[in-house]
Amino acid sequence: MARTKNKFVCQECGYTTPRELGKCPGCQAWSSFAEETEIISKSPLHRGIGQLANKPELISDVKVADVERQLTGMPEFDRVLGGGIVPGSVILIGGDPGIGKSTLLLQASNALSRKYGTVLYVTGEESVSQTKIRSNRIGMTSDTLYVLCENNLELIEKHIDELQPQAVVIDSIQAVYLTEFQSAPGSITQIRECAAHLLITAKNRNITMFFVGHVTKEGTLAGPRVLEHIVDTVLYFEGERHHLYRVLRAVKNRFGPTNELGIFEMQNKGLVDVKNPSQLFLSDREEDISGSVIVASMEGTRPLLLEVQALVVSTHYGTPRNTATGIDRNRVALLIAVLNKRIGLDIGNSDVFVNITGGLRVDEPGIDHGVLMAIISNHRNIQIDSHTVVIGEVGLGGEIRPVPHVELRIREAAKLGFTRAIFPAYHQKGLQINDEIELIGVKNIYDSLSVLFS
Ligand code: TYD
Ligand code: MG
Repeated sequence: MARTKNKFVCQECGYTTPRELGKCPGCQAWSSFAEETEIISKSPLHRGIGQLANKPELISDVKVADVERQLTGMPEFDRVLGGGIVPGSVILIGGDPGIGKSTLLLQASNALSRKYGTVLYVTGEESVSQTKIRSNRIGMTSDTLYVLCENNLELIEKHIDELQPQAVVIDSIQAVYLTEFQSAPGSITQIRECAAHLLITAKNRNITMFFVGHVTKEGTLAGPRVLEHIVDTVLYFEGERHHLYRVLRAVKNRFGPTNELGIFEMQNKGLVDVKNPSQLFLSDREEDISGSVIVASMEGTRPLLLEVQALVVSTHYGTPRNTATGIDRNRVALLIAVLNKRIGLDIGNSDVFVNITGGLRVDEPGIDHGVLMAIISNHRNIQIDSHTVVIGEVGLGGEIRPVPHVELRIREAAKLGFTRAIFPAYHQKGLQINDEIELIGVKNIYDSLSVLFS
């Protein structure tokens, strides 16, 4: 007979206590506890540890076979995974409803089943016919892809036993449940225990697992943090509803880097890889307006040209506000402070809006220089030449600091027809650019102002 234990689990962060609390000490949320029953000795976490236990080996004796990665048929997906899927790995894909998670995984399942053998697509939220309609839409051609509409994990595992697939998609991890736990599907206990069950199946039988995960209002994956710790790879699928393109990024990857972006376009026949993202991001750009600057950012190993727009307007009500989309607001505040101190630009009584167009989020300081120039351009109402790309980080002293991969950034700009690059003077020596683009190195914002606004 299995022992059971009642406990209270915060539905926001997974904090567990024996008594119900009003406020969660873990995440400070109010009234977030729900009672759950845990069956201690039956937990797959415990059983799993027993099954997976191995003997200690001398590290010098351990042999590793070169794993051959499997390709998803979508080069952008493979890029984010670090060059394809490592068989037997567990991959969690999070994203807002309707962003295209099911479409992405169905397309990948199609390619994987054609190349590497049976794939089981478990849909816990949609009917089999809905999945079929989607598969018709994307023109699927596989005859080794199975679809199963089921939420009960014990039954799903039975089908896995019978079918012996080499990959399984669980769409979504919030929709499946184990009958031995009383809490509802989607609760912390269910998510954690189901994920642990599936993890053991994946590792014991070398089956690749994809979990679809829902995100909360705050944009993080719903469910316990432990889910992110259990899996090998966590990917987020993002994009704005009114834009057609979608961005896939890794936030955790045991088998690859986490800074690569995969960029797709949602068309009527499914997701299509975007081969030249810079071109896409600059496609609906309005030239010859003040406050618009083209910057070159690095996303992983790939340079990306983006448009930064700034608007400076005097505040009518109360305290001035900074609003930033696609860039950290504190970074913008810092740049405004530098402008104030170093060139006496007084916009302390103005609202400043900064926007990276296209809805992409950039966390890289290499675009500082461009953001700063966009603010000045709009404040002075003077346009910046639309064929100039601005590169560099800005220091507190107003100096333009070096950035990594400056050559890649400049070459990307030259490739897209830009005629002038303004970049940190530090890089000027030894720069190897054979393309036709004027190269101007600047040491500080004064140099930059005289180049751009004279
Ligand atoms: P879906 O994969 O169902 O999203 P998720 O699983 O993340 O909830 O995709 C939903 C949206 O994508 C839906 O609004 C329809 C659109 N879509 C297309 O535009 N083209 C297509 O070929 C497909 C399959 C979907
Ligand atoms: Mg879906």
